[in-house]
Amino acid sequence: MDVFDAIRTRRSVRKYKDKQIPWDNVVTIMQAGKYAPSAGNLQNWKFIVVKTEGKRASITKACLNQEWMATAPVFIVVVGQPEDAERYYGARGRRLYTIQGIAAAIENMLLTAHSLGLGSCWVGAFDEDELRRILLLPEQADVHAVITLGYADEKPEVPPKYRIEHMMFFEKWWGRVEKPKTFLGWWSVNNVRMVDEGKKMLKKAHKKIKEKVSEKMGKKQ
Ligand SMILES: Cc1cc2nc3c(=O)[nH]c(=O)nc-3n(C[C@H](O)[C@H](O)[C@H](O)COP(=O)(O)O)c2cc1C
Repeated sequence: MDVFDAIRTRRSVRKYKDKQIPWDNVVTIMQAGKYAPSAGNLQNWKFIVVKTEGKRASITKACLNQEWMATAPVFIVVVGQPEDAERYYGARGRRLYTIQGIAAAIENMLLTAHSLGLGSCWVGAFDEDELRRILLLPEQADVHAVITLGYADEKPEVPPKYRIEHMMFFEKWWGRVEKPKTFLGWWSVNNVRMVDEGKKMLKKAHKKIKEKVSEKMGKKQ
């Protein structure tokens, strides 16, 4: 699966099979988190793997009782250490860089899970004090997310996503004017892909028609 396909087809999965996932998959997923960019390469995060049923139940409760979570066999709780970033970059490091680096690590992990054939969901709604208590976190650590992992037992529909034209400007805020070719989006990876696939389909159809015609001609002779 190439990166763009993984990005495009990843979905938030909220129903999992009652089946363990291989430990080396969990490690690969955390490795993917590890390789995310971080300001000054500080890597100021920790991943807490939770597999025990009782603890997953408590975390589920702390995540505003999102009951579907308990069906996932593994949680990875992603914890930030904002003090490290604050030391180097002040308030910006604490508020912005820590959150951005950790978000990149989380997305890496979700994509890697998907590429390994696993389902996942980024859970951000929780009672942080409750999670701190359950996980025995020190004061200087913050919970950023709980990632659920497991084999998907559902195939979620693609949720509505805006067209790229809704979220892009040229050169300035609300800049809408560009050369027509670019404006129509012909440069985009997706469109190039669609054109390539269209070409392949046409080639296939052409081959089939040719075969049918020569079959008919053969019969006539
Ligand atoms: C910061 C953040 C917090 C989220 N929190 C939750 C959550 O608490 N519960 C949940 O079911 N999904 C949560 N999600 C998943 C989103 O609902 C989901 O990504 C969105 O509906 C789009 O669906 P998709 O991931 O399949 O593209 C969260 C996603 C993000 C980025």
